[in-house]
Formats: sequence, structure tokens, C-alpha cells
Amino acid sequence: MKTLIVYYSYGHHTRDVAEIMKKALGCDLSEIVPVKAYTGVYQKLVDATENNRETKNTPEIKPLSQKISDYDNIIIGTPVWWYTMAEPVRTFLSQNDLTGKNVMIFATNAGWIGSTFKDMKALIGSTQIPELDVKFSVDGESMLTEARVIEQFVKKS
Ligand SMILES: Cc1cc2nc3c(=O)[nH]c(=O)nc-3n(C[C@H](O)[C@H](O)[C@H](O)COP(=O)(O)O)c2cc1C
Repeated sequence: MKTLIVYYSYGHHTRDVAEIMKKALGCDLSEIVPVKAYTGVYQKLVDATENNRETKNTPEIKPLSQKISDYDNIIIGTPVWWYTMAEPVRTFLSQNDLTGKNVMIFATNAGWIGSTFKDMKALIGSTQIPELDVKFSVDGESMLTEARVIEQFVKKS
């Protein structure tokens, strides 16, 4: 069974968690890269995406480095943006049919996860998807969820 971790990370939290998972499983990793990078001041991005849940923006993304069809297990990671998934992850889930794959999802956040998992599951088209909430401190300095918990979660894949 081949496993691929697909993630988007604006800062580095989601990437760091994806790297922990990759190390635990020895699997492949693929980053979701928007065609037009989100750049500039952090607060400007926060302000610009304030209505993320309502606008349901799906910015164009680059093709993944790996082919989804080559894998049995897909683990998808997102930062939480305004109580739901980050926009580029919405694009990825809207464009890829994951029917028949074993899917797991995780979200990094500062304590307000909102409807992130429910919204991701709706796009994937299944409610039977294991999920992991990975918390970081509000100042973004430290991961509050233990690495051991992340490793145990993916080893169920
Ligand atoms: C635009 C934006 C919106 C955010 N909204 C939330 C939120 O609704 N709830 C929350 O707990 N954290 C929120 N955060 C914090 C991020 O979810 C958190 O820092 C995450 O771990 C960042 O992941 P990254 O470093 O991989 O981009 C937001 C951050 C950004 C940039």
C-alpha cells in the first residue's frame, strides 16, 4: 500500500507536521503550490481571507509533483484559515476525485478549528475519514500537540 501526504502550508506549521508524518511512514510528500503565491504581510492575508467560509475561493494551483492515481492512501493537511481549510486545499479537493482511496486529514491551527473537517469531508464526499487536529500556540512558536500523537495517528493508515 503506497501512501502520499498532500499539504499546503503558508508558514511552516503544516509542512513541519507533514515532515513528521513522512518520517514516521517513510512515504512520499507533495506540496500544494498556488500559481499566484500568497505573499506579503501576515495580517494582510488574514484580512483578505476573512470571508473564506462564504467566498469558497479556489485559487489556481500548480500540478502536484506526484500522481494521486499511483497511491492507495492519501493524507491531506491544511492550515485553518478562518475556521475552515486554506483556499489552495479547497482547490485541490475540488479538482481531485478521491473515491476508492483511504483518506486521512489533518489541520494545524491555533485553537479555533471551526468547520474545517466537516467542510473537507463534504468535498471529499465521505464522513468516514480519520482526522487529526494539530494545535499550535497562538504566537505560533510551539506545537502543542505531541509528535507521538501525530506518529500514532498516521501509523493507523
Ligand atoms: C489567513 C489566516 C487565517 C487563520 N484563521 C485561523 C482560524 O480560524 N482558527 C485558528 O485556530 N487559527 C487560524 N489561523 C492560524 C493558522 O491556522 C495556524 O497558525 C496554522 O498552523 C498555520 O499553518 P502554516 O504555518 O502551515 O501556514 C489563521 C492563519 C491565517 C494566515
